[in-house]
Amino acid sequence: MTRALVLGGAGFIGVATCKELMRRGVETVAAGRKDRPYGTFTSYVAFDRTDESQLVRALEQVEPDVLLDLACYQPGEVDAVARHFKGARYVFVSTGVYPNLDGRPAREEDFVPLEGDPPAELDYMNGKRWCETVLARSLDLPWTVIRPPAVFGPADHTLRIAAYLQRVEDGGPLLVPAESYERQAGLAWVKDIGYACALACDLRKDLTHKAYNAAFEGVSLRGLIEGIARATGKPARIHPMPFASLPDGASPYGPDPRRSAGYVLERSRKELGFEPSALEDALAETLAWYRVAHPSHPGYANRAQELAVAGAA
Ligand SMILES: NC(=O)c1ccc[n+]([C@@H]2O[C@H](COP(=O)([O-])OP(=O)(O)OC[C@H]3O[C@@H](n4cnc5c(N)ncnc54)[C@H](OP(=O)(O)O)[C@@H]3O)[C@@H](O)[C@H]2O)c1
Repeated sequence: MTRALVLGGAGFIGVATCKELMRRGVETVAAGRKDRPYGTFTSYVAFDRTDESQLVRALEQVEPDVLLDLACYQPGEVDAVARHFKGARYVFVSTGVYPNLDGRPAREEDFVPLEGDPPAELDYMNGKRWCETVLARSLDLPWTVIRPPAVFGPADHTLRIAAYLQRVEDGGPLLVPAESYERQAGLAWVKDIGYACALACDLRKDLTHKAYNAAFEGVSLRGLIEGIARATGKPARIHPMPFASLPDGASPYGPDPRRSAGYVLERSRKELGFEPSALEDALAETLAWYRVAHPSHPGYANRAQELAVAGAA
């Protein structure tokens, strides 16, 4: 039986991943900073990776075949894994590290490792780009990369999906970028990302030194909003306007017209066996959470300004 240690396994994507791994009969141990009794469905190890000795201790304690990393943001953290992990596969969960592709869907090879040394301070995106660059230079480490775009689902701590649910629910117009709202957007369901991560842990497949996209296919911002409208029985009052004039927080999924138009899934279908779910299934589950939790996206605080911009105040 494969044994997996899931760093960040109690987080948003981590829980979906642990569930899918266990469904597949993988012995699964989650790890994170909080010293939590992890409940009923998996074992748990407390560690803080900012202290390298704690990573070493977690690895010694669990002796995983697969190390699945959902809590890695800095290149030094990848270096530490390369120094200490001796198992069969390291799965690094990245993000949309792609450069601006002016509306072309991203293929995995559109990310090219960076040159030189990483700067001391890195924002989220550049941190992930540098993590992947370190991986590209670490050919003794049997790594595989999963690249999700913006992920939504129940308990989405980014609250970006709530932004659209709230606006459809209040019946007012939704301000979206005119240049790109009908293009494929970079969106994924948390359950599908858990599925992709679990597929990447299958040691029968040769996935070494490869990156894989995981996302919906063919879902635009328009499609998402119309899907929410169908699921809630409300109208989809889409109000396109230039991306540059959108009020802050009005459309947190963008899509920024300079960026890629979502992902190409050809390689992940063929080599990983990934297939995205239907948007409707993802929205039904997310809506059930939203109706109970009723979270508010921070950008919704500017709703009066948006309505004024749309001439609906
Ligand atoms: N959510 C998205 O839309 C999205 C999109 C693309 C890529 N991703 C990537 O997917 C991964 C998981 O994202 P997520 O949304 O599930 O994030 P999350 O809910 O914040 O989960 C990350 C987990 O990492 C653990 N963690 C953070 N710092 C740690 C440290 N120093 N030592 C040990 N554990 C630490 C946290 O556990 P504790 O709280 O117990 O410390 C947390 O549960 C991330 O790498 C993220 O970059 C996410």
